[in-house]
Amino acid sequence: MDRLKSSPQLMIVSDLDHTMVDHHDSENWSLFRFNALWEAHYRQDSLLVFSTGRSPTLYKQLRKEKPLITPDIAIMSVGTEITYGKSMVPDDGWVRCLNQKWDKDIVIEETSKFPELKRQAETEQRPHKVSFYVEKDKAKHVTETLSKVLEGRGLDVKIIYSGGVDLDVLPKGAGKGQALAYLLKKFETEGKPPVNTLVCGDSGNDAELFSIPGVYGVMVSNAQEELLQWHAENAKDNPKILHASERCASGIIQAIGHFKLGLNLSPRDVSDIGQNVENGSPGLEMVNFSLLLESWRRAEVEKTELFISGLKATTLPSGFFIHPSGADHNIKEYVNILRKVHGDKQGKQFRIWVDDLLATPLGSDTWLVKFDKWELSGEERQGCVVTAIISKKDSDWFTWVHVHETWLENSEQGLWIL
Ligand code: GLC
Ligand code: MG
Repeated sequence: MDRLKSSPQLMIVSDLDHTMVDHHDSENWSLFRFNALWEAHYRQDSLLVFSTGRSPTLYKQLRKEKPLITPDIAIMSVGTEITYGKSMVPDDGWVRCLNQKWDKDIVIEETSKFPELKRQAETEQRPHKVSFYVEKDKAKHVTETLSKVLEGRGLDVKIIYSGGVDLDVLPKGAGKGQALAYLLKKFETEGKPPVNTLVCGDSGNDAELFSIPGVYGVMVSNAQEELLQWHAENAKDNPKILHASERCASGIIQAIGHFKLGLNLSPRDVSDIGQNVENGSPGLEMVNFSLLLESWRRAEVEKTELFISGLKATTLPSGFFIHPSGADHNIKEYVNILRKVHGDKQGKQFRIWVDDLLATPLGSDTWLVKFDKWELSGEERQGCVVTAIISKKDSDWFTWVHVHETWLENSEQGLWIL
């Protein structure tokens, strides 16, 4: 967060299940498209916020299952828990706001009198969130009756129905919308309000996000009936809300283009690999290089000497590549290793992606770049931290000077080639 010295250009606040993550796409293609776009063009000066109904436990589980990049801020448990950065530092100020007119014990006591409510797993019961399953046709009646009962007991609650199955009871001041309003106010106070904000969702608990003043919104094509109905009743004439024609993360990319919020060509959509290495920012260079490596190993680019010599030309003869094992190679040897692995992942599910990229200028034409590099090979996933020095000294192209890879904490230390 502190890396941003001024207002973020774009703040994306996105739901995860069925919005950022398409559970019907086993290849995660739209997510990979979004990841490449974000790291190449937005990571340096924008903010990524994930806002999910999941508890921290289930959120972390999803991050293991799906190739999600690291958000700057995670809002979990339907806007009742906010954390910052990779290490997920909690916002205690927000917790204090939620204690008003809230008593979890009373909520538990009263809800237990409704046989229609089936309690969700223990991990999903949080200090400011009590969650159930309820059948679609009973939801409306239960919500109305329960609201009255809890009001009668002196509580100020909000009851949200999502996905045609989940019912959450939260403090009135909680929810995804209120959590976003809290963050926007905080940025305003710090003198760094985002230039543009885009909220993205698919279900009932996302509706509040779309009513925050000034924000753009995208309901992905696969949005649930309850959200579309909320929109029809409450925000039909708001030109800042789009019902995308594309699913999940591809719908988000579509909205960036529709509202002209910035670049919306994902490096993954550029089919001409030659075009992919064109002159750009350090972020784009790293993303493009990872895509090149991916295509090389999937044998989607031909093995030609021209390609190899092109790569050699972008490295400094005296440069070093240090492998996570500690072995160091001259950067030219690295290129020779590359020669051997052409097509080793042909026909397999193999993806490489860049996460949490930070580029710091070391001078007018040299950068220190740091990012996490992940590889997914079938079910197996491995990652390492890459620290590199790249320079643009004598040409419009980047030259790789040094590359140092170290094992990423919690990543399996299996066979890592490059
Ligand atoms: C997530 C949570 C669940 C909640 C639902 C809707 O699935 O795990 O507890 O009810 O989102 O908000
Ligand atoms: Mg969702």
